[in-house]
Amino acid sequence: MKKIYFLLLLLSLISCENTKKKENMSLFKINKEFFGKTNDGAIVDQYTLKNSNGMEVSIISYGGIITSWKAKDRNGDYKDIVLGFTNLSDYETSSPYFGAIIGRYGNRIREGKFSLDGVEYNLAVNNGENHLHGGLKGFDKVIWDVKEEVNDKLASLILRYNSMDMEEGYPGNLDVKVTYTLTNDDELRVRYEADTDKKTVVNLTQHSYFNLSAGLSRDILSHQITIDADSYLPVDKTLIPTGELRDVEGTPFDFRESKRVGDDIYDKDTQLTFGNGYDHCWVLNKQGEGIRIVASAYDPVSGRLLEVYSDQPGIQFYSGNFLDGTLESKDGGKYEFRSGFCLETQHYPNSPNQESFPSVTLNPGEKYETETIFRFTTR
Ligand code: GLA
Repeated sequence: MKKIYFLLLLLSLISCENTKKKENMSLFKINKEFFGKTNDGAIVDQYTLKNSNGMEVSIISYGGIITSWKAKDRNGDYKDIVLGFTNLSDYETSSPYFGAIIGRYGNRIREGKFSLDGVEYNLAVNNGENHLHGGLKGFDKVIWDVKEEVNDKLASLILRYNSMDMEEGYPGNLDVKVTYTLTNDDELRVRYEADTDKKTVVNLTQHSYFNLSAGLSRDILSHQITIDADSYLPVDKTLIPTGELRDVEGTPFDFRESKRVGDDIYDKDTQLTFGNGYDHCWVLNKQGEGIRIVASAYDPVSGRLLEVYSDQPGIQFYSGNFLDGTLESKDGGKYEFRSGFCLETQHYPNSPNQESFPSVTLNPGEKYETETIFRFTTR
């Protein structure tokens, strides 16, 4: 009898241990909640992806926007390190692309015109004389279809959007899929896929504004940046690349060694005048070698380090020069001048009109597939 008791006790202990293990393994979670209703009455939900370390990324179905991203500082304190709003209507009416998926074409296209096989396409001119970030209603302003996936290694959000032929002036029905995956290495992987039924152009990116200090109104000038690029693309005064690839050596654009954003931003340099600071595309090294580290940002006060990995040829480093203290921040202040920076992995601006730039054309039967990873650690 005693033996049987002992055996039963042993069995129940083992099963308890297994349940515990299972619980530990499935510490990834996705919470879904109502975020708001658009102006035309569509319901928008917010999904919060959590890993077992404590990192949390919130994403809404409107624009695939990352509304909040909690990363730990060197003391293990998790704080929100991205700019955004607390309500949907601000995203609809006044967002400078905070946290959004950008498409079909991230960045500028000169005068909103390009040609494919002798046919000219006309896009919205929504940024001075140029087209910017996909037009009046780009991918940052549409409702995405969302699916959740959670297992013991990751939490993913799969966003889909079917962009119709000639939507915002772009040819071809484009099926787009963006997968956000949070891992236990405190990385958010962003995978972009698309296919078309007509020759078109595609250049997707993610437009999060980071402030690693978690003081969302503070300027980012003391953040230390690296960009693995020997050259960058000088622009004209409307921020369209001239076509030249300029060596960064001896210029304020040299971030091959870690440098504070503020170190050279006030230098007398025509390019900094045109951008009102940094708002340029860097020509990344090691092109064609697949995914590699392309940039990093470090905040010495909090110890947060963000590393960006990508397979893309370019990265737009934007130092938040259009922020001017008018938008209200999530933490009760205002988004002051240069209180956030973006590292937008992408193809070069205006590529459809620059034959010397890597091609952004997508043909029927081809698959557009690219990946960027944002990885957080502390130092
Ligand atoms: C991109 C552009 C900037 C600016 C922001 C949004 O980064 O390059 O010039 O338009 O988007 O405000």
